[in-house]
Amino acid sequence: MPQDSSFWTFIDDQGTFRATGADRIRRLYFPLGNEAGLLSAITPDLHGDIKTGQNCFLTHPVSEQDLHASRYRRDFWLRFENGDIWCANVQGEAEVEAGFLWHRATRVHPTRMRAEILNFSPATDDTVELMEVRLTNLGDEARTFTPTAAIPIFGRSADNLRDHRHVTSLLHRIAAHPHGVMVKPTMSFDERGHRINSVHYAILGFEEKGAAPAGSFPSVDEYIGEGGDFDRPAAVLENLEPIPWKNAAGREAMGALRFETRTLQPGESISYILALGIAEDSRKITGWKKRYGTRVKFLTALEANRHYWEKRLDPITFRTGDPLFSNWVRWVSLQPSLRKIFGCGFLPDFDYGRGGRGWRDLWQDCLALSLLYPEEARPLLLNNYGGVRFDGSNATIIGREPGEFIADRNSITRVWMDHGVWPWVTTELYIHQTGDDSILFEKRAYFRDPQQRRAQARDHAWTEKYGRELKTKSGRVHRGTVLEHILIQHLTAFYNVGDHNMIRLEDADWNDGLDMAHKRGESVAFTAFYAGNLASIAGLLEELAREKDLKHVELASEVLILLDRVGRKPLKYDSVAARRKRLHDYFDAITPEIHGRTVKVAIPELVADLRAKSEHLAESVRTQEWVKVGGEEWFNGYYDNEARRVEGKVKGVTRMTLTGQVFPIMSGVATPEQITRLWKATCRHLRDPKLGGFRLNTDFREIQPALGRAFSFAYGEKENGAFFNHMGVMFANALYRRGFVKEGYEVLNSIFQMAVDTEKSRIYPGLPEYYNGEGRGMYHYLTGSASWYILTYLTQVCGVRGLWGDLLLAPKLVAEEFGTAGQVEVRTSFGGRRIRVKYENPEGLEFGDYEVAAITANGKPVAFEKVAFAEARIARREVERWSRKSEVDLRIELSKRSGNQEIRKNKVATICV
Ligand code: G1P
Repeated sequence: MPQDSSFWTFIDDQGTFRATGADRIRRLYFPLGNEAGLLSAITPDLHGDIKTGQNCFLTHPVSEQDLHASRYRRDFWLRFENGDIWCANVQGEAEVEAGFLWHRATRVHPTRMRAEILNFSPATDDTVELMEVRLTNLGDEARTFTPTAAIPIFGRSADNLRDHRHVTSLLHRIAAHPHGVMVKPTMSFDERGHRINSVHYAILGFEEKGAAPAGSFPSVDEYIGEGGDFDRPAAVLENLEPIPWKNAAGREAMGALRFETRTLQPGESISYILALGIAEDSRKITGWKKRYGTRVKFLTALEANRHYWEKRLDPITFRTGDPLFSNWVRWVSLQPSLRKIFGCGFLPDFDYGRGGRGWRDLWQDCLALSLLYPEEARPLLLNNYGGVRFDGSNATIIGREPGEFIADRNSITRVWMDHGVWPWVTTELYIHQTGDDSILFEKRAYFRDPQQRRAQARDHAWTEKYGRELKTKSGRVHRGTVLEHILIQHLTAFYNVGDHNMIRLEDADWNDGLDMAHKRGESVAFTAFYAGNLASIAGLLEELAREKDLKHVELASEVLILLDRVGRKPLKYDSVAARRKRLHDYFDAITPEIHGRTVKVAIPELVADLRAKSEHLAESVRTQEWVKVGGEEWFNGYYDNEARRVEGKVKGVTRMTLTGQVFPIMSGVATPEQITRLWKATCRHLRDPKLGGFRLNTDFREIQPALGRAFSFAYGEKENGAFFNHMGVMFANALYRRGFVKEGYEVLNSIFQMAVDTEKSRIYPGLPEYYNGEGRGMYHYLTGSASWYILTYLTQVCGVRGLWGDLLLAPKLVAEEFGTAGQVEVRTSFGGRRIRVKYENPEGLEFGDYEVAAITANGKPVAFEKVAFAEARIARREVERWSRKSEVDLRIELSKRSGNQEIRKNKVATICV
């Protein structure tokens, strides 16, 4: 879609955009925040809330409907001398400009007074949002006005929005501050146990050179008056005198600050600075004046903020032949950092959850983070392994602090059967990128809480006193290697099968909405994923044996129960009963404690065991789950709670899921012929002919109480048939990895095209969680698909990735992506070096027609091994010759392919290779 028909346009090559008509798009919001934990959302009329977590909301918590229904905004009023009144953030048409991570809304009053309101959160340890209101007189006459900034203060937990709203306002103690209003509730209200509150909420104001406001209206009552409201506040309409600075108590608090009356001559400007924030220690709030209390200080903090985000985004940048794409993808690469800050909540669309991130999300975010900031990745990964339980399940919610695991939130004990696959996916990527396989042999504890036997039993004797780390029978904390953690996650899954010998769905897999088939449900999709992982773990062990002369690994003795092919009579994998029994034998052996003995297992035996398991799973999926419907064929992805096959034709309706196809492809389970056939069926049943994207499933036309809540959503929304980007990107990734480049491009490109078709998507640049049936972008910004998008674009499309520490350059770019200049450029780091990879395809050759002809580094030829016609491997020792100090300029000449090598469509790929 041409850029100029969008409601926003990029105005530079750094992702900065300008939007007009944003007022007319109802659910539009933009995120602001910082690493200190300030979480804000802002709309063109400065709606949206400011908080640091579920229990600390400075302003009123809002979800997307409140954006139009409520009047809680960051208002800035002007009362002109003739009595005219202007709400500068609401009246007049907004022009929004935004970048990383700042937001400016500009409006002009009919008398040519312009207000530019810029908000951002500084890259410091202050949990504060800063706001500058810059007024400029664009008219021909002097204008005199009295400004009032007005931001309602909620000052408590989001829980109190409904629960004891009035009573909690009685806890408010409002203190006069020389620059504004500061609220410190006396207590945090919770009938299960009240706590003394220590959090301060404050709204401070400064004139351009730091002068304090003239006074304030510190409570809602005083500000709006008896008959007013936030759109007609008495303080402004009736030009009330501000209340002399005084303390107040027991009221809904209001950050309404009255500034002195000023006159602007034509062409003159004046600024007002506001600091809106939260702090435990009131001295921090005093410090805001010192750090941000004048325009100059505000601008310095803004510059530092821009610089900070630029540095955060610089690690990976793409420049293709399409400037719209190059700018857009920069917003996608911001998103993993946003998920790190916000978790999976706290933006208006995300009105669920109480903070924290889920296990799956944590690991997926680490995918992009280990590409973007590899030096941060190692400790992060190691920490996360501490959340694995010895039964292969794991803690499900992760707090803000490293190693802060919370299971059993709200007493819900759920096991998501896919959770075991993600840590290995991320760790494997990390190892390939860095060559650091020693991470596998680092030792970590296991998570322990009352849940046992994959949440099928509870240890009533367990108390917090025991601690959250698993102990041996002798009371010692057991630390096993990371490899041991990974093996336990996969081996337990292998035995945990349903009636069809596929791995049980338990309480859901990747699709959180498949949550009603606990008893008899099975996930064929993730059975394939586990099969692929078992093979790649075996591959890694072989590589370590070959390259590092690794002879054996040390494992807790109980793990041997699961390694039936290591020195024992092999189990018959076809027998469901035998597999289930083996899992229960293992649970018996590890409950309530493990013994503490370790054993050495020889690598060849371990590899053979893992391979046997992988092959059994893969073969069963390939044959047993390949469904034929009329002339079409694809994989069945699930069994429901009544052990019925989900996909195929049921009551005349075609039932197909995308998930069921993605993982057999990605894991190498599907044969190339199967991929060709299922692609056809997918295009027929899941590709939307109008919007071009791929849906998560067909319309099953009835709810599925034996499968999950997802099917109770309206068709086309969320996990019921939406264009769910996480699965869409993984679909593209899988296709690329298996050499189906044209198809992969079609899928990936459809996702980008739907995002920039803003007439339908109606969002700012970036990737939303999903597009609904009308193509609207929903749940913008916080989505695992962003990580997968960056991963896929870098390692598959551009083909820049590690292979056991060597550098692989294996472009899968189609001709269109090179544009008229015939170039695609990626800047990233590898092996501790900054590299700029430039693919040159002057003839505009199509993928399949080009090969890597030559590579130079800073102009000098580089030796490489040609793995396939468009796949070059540069040895680690070559990489190590490159400078660490300055960026290395790598030019890759692509020329017409000679010879007849086949495209390796049958290559069985691991997740990142
Ligand atoms: C969200 C969840 C993710 C889950 C997916 C499907 O998607 O965060 O864990 O797998 O829904 O239920 P995301 O945030 O990755 O877009």
